[in-house]
Amino acid sequence: MQVPLMDLKAEYRQLRDEILPAVDQALESMNLFLGPNVQALEEEWAGLCGVNYAVGVGSGTDALILSLKALGVGDGDEVITAAWTFIATIEAIIHVGAQPVLIDIAPDTYCLEPALIEPAITARTRAIIPIHVFGHPADMDRINQIADQYDLYVVEDAAQAHGAAYQGKMAGNLGDCAIFSFYMSKNLAAYGEGGMVTTNNDELAEEVRMLRNHGQTARYEHHLMGYNSRLDEIQAAILRVKLNRLGWGNQRRREQAALYNELLADCPVILPYEAPGAHHVYHLYTIRTDRCDELADHLEEQGIGFARHYHYPSHIQPVSRSFGLNETALPETDLAAAQVIQLPLHPYLSDEQIRYVATTVCQFFA
Ligand SMILES: Cc1ncc(COP(=O)(O)O)c(C=O)c1O
Repeated sequence: MQVPLMDLKAEYRQLRDEILPAVDQALESMNLFLGPNVQALEEEWAGLCGVNYAVGVGSGTDALILSLKALGVGDGDEVITAAWTFIATIEAIIHVGAQPVLIDIAPDTYCLEPALIEPAITARTRAIIPIHVFGHPADMDRINQIADQYDLYVVEDAAQAHGAAYQGKMAGNLGDCAIFSFYMSKNLAAYGEGGMVTTNNDELAEEVRMLRNHGQTARYEHHLMGYNSRLDEIQAAILRVKLNRLGWGNQRRREQAALYNELLADCPVILPYEAPGAHHVYHLYTIRTDRCDELADHLEEQGIGFARHYHYPSHIQPVSRSFGLNETALPETDLAAAQVIQLPLHPYLSDEQIRYVATTVCQFFA
């Protein structure tokens, strides 16, 4: 049996009859950017996150850059975040002219370890970017408490956490603002690029709205040096179709994770952890073992897809050397990098496929 890491083709086959008319309608209107679909998606996304504003932008990376810009984070500032993230989190900080200050993760959730924030704060620190990594929300109560005490902004990187929640509050509504990515592999995914900024702050929302569209307030009236980062109508139309199934998809991911947990219970691997009060949406199902390389080879031989996020975390990426980031000691990050592997998990995979993967993993260790 072949089991891909995720089955995007199966999803498209299911949704084709709704997606094609939605795309056709967007094309027929020839209203291709920031039109009715973007506006409706923004309202629907704000409603889902429980925030006042959602602003559609060109990608999750742009959402981070525009958020930091709108908050006034720039030259000479420092932003505390983790190396255990996709490089985009670090890129955004560098692109606005600030310096990333990388701290270690909690080994169970893989999210920013709040106890390490305070020692990393300096007179230059302006913001913290916790990442809700793999779909598990960061420990936001402790992070927000420190941010309040030191007057720092909190930008949630929720690129992997559509529909996740923490203490009953949705990801996207747990900081000063949050960013989402609609990259093709995400829990809510476009068939191209897209991103979203959410916030309850009206000035911040307005600033991001201007920044995404060349600093315009009205047509050809430019008040800020902005960017071209408009979410397009075709992607918004596709996202609106898929949004109807996000709740179902996340529930299915949780069921698949529970099935894996049950089937792998006797295997010598560390299973994913869900902290009390956290609602994990399993963007990725991550296990840990010292025999990661051998397990990866075995899965490959058996036709099973896998990923290794983050085998090369941001601080050891070649590009990070020029910013001195490789000098940071991050023992938990380094250990996780050597031990984690992700197994196939996607709403459109069958329980039979999940069982086959779990059996193959167990056989490897037997
Ligand atoms: C944690 C994290 N932050 C930011 C991004 C950037 O999103 P995008 O690829 O939409 O620019 C991603 C996406 O891959 C991500 O996983």
